[in-house]
Amino acid sequence: MTEVKIAAEISSVRPHLDFLVRQAVVDDAKALADLWCRRKPQDRAEAVERARRAIAATGPEEVMLAADLSGTLVAYGRISRFRRPEDAPGTMCPSGWYLLGITVREDSRRRGIGRELTRRRLEWLRKRGIEQAWYFTDFDNERSIRLHEEFGFEPVRKDVIFPGMRLDSQPMVLFGLTL
Ligand SMILES: CC(C)(COP(=O)(O)OP(=O)(O)OC[C@H]1O[C@@H](n2cnc3c(N)ncnc32)[C@H](O)[C@@H]1OP(=O)(O)O)[C@@H](O)C(=O)NCCC(=O)NCCS
Repeated sequence: MTEVKIAAEISSVRPHLDFLVRQAVVDDAKALADLWCRRKPQDRAEAVERARRAIAATGPEEVMLAADLSGTLVAYGRISRFRRPEDAPGTMCPSGWYLLGITVREDSRRRGIGRELTRRRLEWLRKRGIEQAWYFTDFDNERSIRLHEEFGFEPVRKDVIFPGMRLDSQPMVLFGLTL
Protein backbone atom coordinates (compact mmCIF):
# COMPACT_ATOMS: atom_id res chain seq x y z
CA MET A 1 0.00 0.00 0.00
CA THR A 2 1.38 3.44 -0.85
CA GLU A 3 2.19 5.98 1.80
CA VAL A 4 -0.37 8.39 0.34
CA LYS A 5 -3.11 5.79 0.60
CA ILE A 6 -2.17 5.01 4.20
CA ALA A 7 -2.23 8.75 5.00
CA ALA A 8 -5.65 9.26 3.42
CA GLU A 9 -7.06 6.36 5.38
CA ILE A 10 -5.70 7.53 8.71
CA SER A 11 -6.24 11.30 8.58
CA SER A 12 -9.58 12.64 9.58
CA VAL A 13 -11.04 15.09 12.04
CA ARG A 14 -13.61 13.77 14.48
CA PRO A 15 -16.04 16.62 14.96
CA HIS A 16 -16.44 16.18 18.72
CA LEU A 17 -12.70 16.23 19.36
CA ASP A 18 -10.55 19.35 19.22
CA PHE A 19 -7.49 17.62 17.82
CA LEU A 20 -6.56 15.99 14.54
CA VAL A 21 -5.00 12.56 14.20
CA ARG A 22 -2.99 12.02 11.03
CA GLN A 23 0.05 10.25 9.69
CA ALA A 24 3.38 11.84 10.68
CA VAL A 25 5.35 13.45 7.85
CA VAL A 26 9.03 14.39 7.60
CA ASP A 27 8.16 18.04 8.38
CA ASP A 28 7.11 16.84 11.84
CA ALA A 29 10.68 15.84 12.73
CA LYS A 30 11.48 18.97 14.78
CA ALA A 31 8.18 18.89 16.68
CA LEU A 32 8.62 15.19 17.37
CA ALA A 33 12.17 15.75 18.59
CA ASP A 34 10.91 18.53 20.88
CA LEU A 35 8.39 16.10 22.34
CA TRP A 36 11.20 13.61 23.04
CA CYS A 37 13.42 16.34 24.54
CA ARG A 38 10.64 17.49 26.85
CA ARG A 39 10.17 13.93 28.06
CA LYS A 40 13.88 13.22 28.50
CA PRO A 41 16.59 15.91 28.14
CA GLN A 42 18.89 15.05 25.21
CA ASP A 43 20.82 16.61 22.36
CA ARG A 44 18.18 18.28 20.16
CA ALA A 45 20.07 18.05 16.86
CA GLU A 46 20.54 14.31 17.34
CA ALA A 47 16.90 13.93 18.35
CA VAL A 48 15.78 15.76 15.18
CA GLU A 49 17.92 13.45 13.06
CA ARG A 50 16.50 10.39 14.83
CA ALA A 51 12.98 11.72 14.38
CA ARG A 52 13.64 12.25 10.64
CA ARG A 53 14.89 8.69 10.29
CA ALA A 54 11.95 7.29 12.25
CA ILE A 55 9.41 9.12 10.09
CA ALA A 56 11.23 8.24 6.88
CA ALA A 57 11.14 4.56 7.90
CA THR A 58 7.33 4.49 7.89
CA GLY A 59 5.68 2.16 5.39
CA PRO A 60 3.32 -0.82 5.25
CA GLU A 61 4.74 -2.37 8.43
CA GLU A 62 5.78 0.76 10.30
CA VAL A 63 3.21 3.49 10.91
CA MET A 64 3.46 6.67 12.92
CA LEU A 65 0.37 8.65 13.83
CA ALA A 66 0.61 12.21 15.10
CA ALA A 67 -1.97 14.30 16.96
CA ASP A 68 -2.23 18.03 16.27
CA LEU A 69 -3.79 20.40 18.76
CA SER A 70 -4.29 23.95 17.47
CA GLY A 71 -1.86 23.21 14.66
CA THR A 72 0.91 21.91 16.93
CA LEU A 73 2.06 18.31 17.12
CA VAL A 74 1.45 17.27 20.73
CA ALA A 75 1.49 13.47 20.57
CA TYR A 76 2.44 10.47 18.54
CA GLY A 77 2.07 6.70 18.56
CA ARG A 78 3.54 3.99 16.36
CA ILE A 79 2.54 0.62 14.96
CA SER A 80 5.42 -1.68 14.17
CA ARG A 81 5.69 -5.23 12.92
CA PHE A 82 8.41 -7.04 14.84
CA ARG A 83 10.10 -10.20 13.66
CA ARG A 84 11.81 -11.96 16.51
CA PRO A 85 15.28 -13.22 15.50
CA GLU A 86 15.62 -17.01 15.80
CA ASP A 87 18.60 -16.71 18.13
CA ALA A 88 16.94 -14.14 20.41
CA PRO A 89 17.01 -14.77 24.18
CA GLY A 90 13.90 -16.33 25.73
CA THR A 91 12.90 -13.03 27.31
CA MET A 92 12.60 -11.36 23.90
CA CYS A 93 9.05 -10.33 22.93
CA PRO A 94 7.28 -12.54 20.37
CA SER A 95 6.98 -11.66 16.69
CA GLY A 96 3.89 -9.65 15.84
CA TRP A 97 2.29 -6.25 15.51
CA TYR A 98 3.12 -3.81 18.31
CA LEU A 99 1.70 -0.51 19.48
CA LEU A 100 4.81 1.44 20.43
CA GLY A 101 6.02 4.78 21.70
CA ILE A 102 2.80 6.54 22.59
CA THR A 103 3.60 9.92 24.10
CA VAL A 104 1.34 12.90 24.73
CA ARG A 105 2.84 16.27 25.70
CA GLU A 106 2.35 16.96 29.42
CA ASP A 107 0.14 20.01 28.89
CA SER A 108 -2.14 18.10 26.50
CA ARG A 109 -2.78 15.00 28.59
CA ARG A 110 -6.08 13.74 29.92
CA ARG A 111 -8.19 15.04 27.06
CA GLY A 112 -8.51 11.77 25.17
CA ILE A 113 -5.57 12.07 22.77
CA GLY A 114 -3.84 8.88 23.95
CA ARG A 115 -7.13 7.01 23.74
CA GLU A 116 -7.81 8.26 20.21
CA LEU A 117 -4.28 7.40 19.02
CA THR A 118 -4.74 3.91 20.43
CA ARG A 119 -8.22 3.48 18.97
CA ARG A 120 -6.97 4.53 15.52
CA ARG A 121 -3.99 2.22 15.60
CA LEU A 122 -6.12 -0.77 16.60
CA GLU A 123 -8.58 0.14 13.85
CA TRP A 124 -5.67 0.20 11.38
CA LEU A 125 -4.67 -3.32 12.45
CA ARG A 126 -8.23 -4.69 12.34
CA LYS A 127 -8.77 -3.31 8.85
CA ARG A 128 -5.81 -5.38 7.71
CA GLY A 129 -7.17 -8.57 9.21
CA ILE A 130 -4.50 -8.68 11.91
CA GLU A 131 -5.78 -10.77 14.79
CA GLN A 132 -3.33 -10.02 17.59
CA ALA A 133 -1.87 -6.78 18.93
CA TRP A 134 0.94 -6.43 21.48
CA TYR A 135 2.39 -3.69 23.59
CA PHE A 136 4.74 -3.51 26.56
CA THR A 137 5.45 -1.00 29.26
CA ASP A 138 7.18 -0.55 32.62
CA PHE A 139 5.46 -2.64 35.29
CA ASP A 140 4.58 0.54 37.21
CA ASN A 141 3.40 2.72 34.33
CA GLU A 142 -0.14 2.90 35.63
CA ARG A 143 -1.44 5.54 33.21
CA SER A 144 -0.30 3.49 30.22
CA ILE A 145 -1.70 0.27 31.70
CA ARG A 146 -5.07 1.95 32.42
CA LEU A 147 -5.22 3.41 28.92
CA HIS A 148 -4.58 0.06 27.21
CA GLU A 149 -6.78 -1.85 29.65
CA GLU A 150 -9.76 0.10 28.29
CA PHE A 151 -9.22 -1.62 24.95
CA GLY A 152 -8.93 -5.07 26.51
CA PHE A 153 -5.16 -5.54 26.66
CA GLU A 154 -4.20 -8.16 29.24
CA PRO A 155 -0.82 -8.95 30.80
CA VAL A 156 0.90 -11.92 29.18
CA ARG A 157 4.45 -12.04 30.51
CA LYS A 158 6.75 -10.19 32.91
CA ASP A 159 10.37 -9.15 32.42
CA VAL A 160 10.38 -9.00 28.64
CA ILE A 161 12.95 -7.25 26.47
CA PHE A 162 12.60 -5.62 23.06
CA PRO A 163 15.26 -4.39 20.61
CA GLY A 164 16.27 -0.81 21.28
CA MET A 165 15.18 -0.89 24.91
CA ARG A 166 17.67 0.49 27.38
CA LEU A 167 19.57 -2.21 29.24
CA ASP A 168 19.11 -0.31 32.50
CA SER A 169 15.36 0.03 32.06
CA GLN A 170 12.91 -1.35 34.58
CA PRO A 171 11.30 -4.76 34.08
CA MET A 172 8.77 -4.52 31.26
CA VAL A 173 5.44 -6.30 31.07
CA LEU A 174 4.08 -7.63 27.77
CA PHE A 175 0.35 -7.17 27.11
CA GLY A 176 -1.70 -8.83 24.39
CA LEU A 177 -5.07 -8.17 22.77
CA THR A 178 -6.99 -10.48 20.44
CA LEU A 179 -8.52 -8.23 17.78
C1 LIG B 1 0.06 7.38 28.91
C2 LIG B 1 -0.31 8.60 28.07
C3 LIG B 1 0.05 8.33 26.60
C4 LIG B 1 -1.83 8.84 28.17
O1 LIG B 1 -2.20 9.87 27.26
P1 LIG B 1 -3.46 10.82 27.52
O2 LIG B 1 -3.75 11.54 26.27
O3 LIG B 1 -3.25 11.64 28.74
O4 LIG B 1 -4.60 9.74 27.83
P2 LIG B 1 -6.16 9.95 27.67
O5 LIG B 1 -6.56 11.33 28.05
O6 LIG B 1 -6.57 9.48 26.33
O7 LIG B 1 -6.69 8.94 28.78
C5 LIG B 1 -7.38 7.74 28.47
C6 LIG B 1 -7.47 6.90 29.73
O8 LIG B 1 -6.16 6.45 30.11
C7 LIG B 1 -6.08 6.39 31.54
N1 LIG B 1 -5.14 7.41 32.04
C8 LIG B 1 -4.53 8.40 31.33
N2 LIG B 1 -3.72 9.11 32.13
C9 LIG B 1 -3.83 8.57 33.37
C10 LIG B 1 -3.23 8.87 34.64
N3 LIG B 1 -2.36 9.88 34.79
N4 LIG B 1 -3.54 8.08 35.68
C11 LIG B 1 -4.42 7.04 35.56
N5 LIG B 1 -5.04 6.72 34.39
C12 LIG B 1 -4.73 7.48 33.32
C13 LIG B 1 -7.47 6.72 32.05
O9 LIG B 1 -8.20 5.52 32.11
C14 LIG B 1 -7.98 7.63 30.94
O10 LIG B 1 -9.38 7.73 30.90
P3 LIG B 1 -10.13 8.91 31.74
O11 LIG B 1 -9.40 10.19 31.46
O12 LIG B 1 -11.51 8.88 31.16
O13 LIG B 1 -10.03 8.50 33.18
C15 LIG B 1 0.42 9.89 28.58
O14 LIG B 1 0.21 9.99 29.97
C16 LIG B 1 1.90 9.92 28.30
O15 LIG B 1 2.34 10.37 27.23
N6 LIG B 1 2.72 9.44 29.27
C17 LIG B 1 4.18 9.43 29.13
C18 LIG B 1 4.65 8.46 28.09
C19 LIG B 1 4.22 7.04 28.41
O16 LIG B 1 4.32 6.57 29.54
N7 LIG B 1 3.78 6.34 27.37
C20 LIG B 1 3.35 4.96 27.45
C21 LIG B 1 4.45 4.07 26.98
S1 LIG B 1 3.83 2.41 26.76
